[in-house]
Amino acid sequence: MGKVKVLRCRLCQEAYIGEEPPSRCPFCGASGWYFIPAEEWNPSEYIFEISDVSKANLEAALELELSNTAFYLCAMNAAKVNGDEYGYAKFKALKKVENEHAEAIVKLLKIKEPLLKTIPCSKDFEKNTQEGWEREDRAIKAYAKFAKEAPELQLRQFFESLVEIETDHLELHAENLKKQT
Ligand SMILES: [Fe+2]
Ligand SMILES: [Fe+2]
Repeated sequence: MGKVKVLRCRLCQEAYIGEEPPSRCPFCGASGWYFIPAEEWNPSEYIFEISDVSKANLEAALELELSNTAFYLCAMNAAKVNGDEYGYAKFKALKKVENEHAEAIVKLLKIKEPLLKTIPCSKDFEKNTQEGWEREDRAIKAYAKFAKEAPELQLRQFFESLVEIETDHLELHAENLKKQT
């Protein structure tokens, strides 16, 4: 057995203990190559001025992430009521990741995290998976646009990373929908 190390995700800034970086960050879903040894952490990389266009885009992204968090929370509870353990686990993991995205945006904007609004969902796994797909698709399109518009290198990378992560989610939903038909 190797020695465990302290690593940090450059996207969500969370710390992780393990021998190797995980294939995906357990907090924000970023690819494993976002992890660096905690000793190499450079906090000044996260201090930069945010332009007006990026501020508005971050606020729009926060809305999306909070809405998706609340939707997945509803879908998670619906799956639990149905005794659907797979659906419960899937929507729970998605809820946690989207909430982590909201937290990362809140940190960038230096604001307090707004309260979650209740978002309705279906009782049915397939319908919630379909809506999840549509929500991820919207997020991907918005973040690709925000990445292009961002004058800050850090935010361009931030939005591009979100596109990658939400694409993972989109593909997961697509896989599930294929199985159902
Ligand atoms: Fe997200
Ligand atoms: Fe997502």
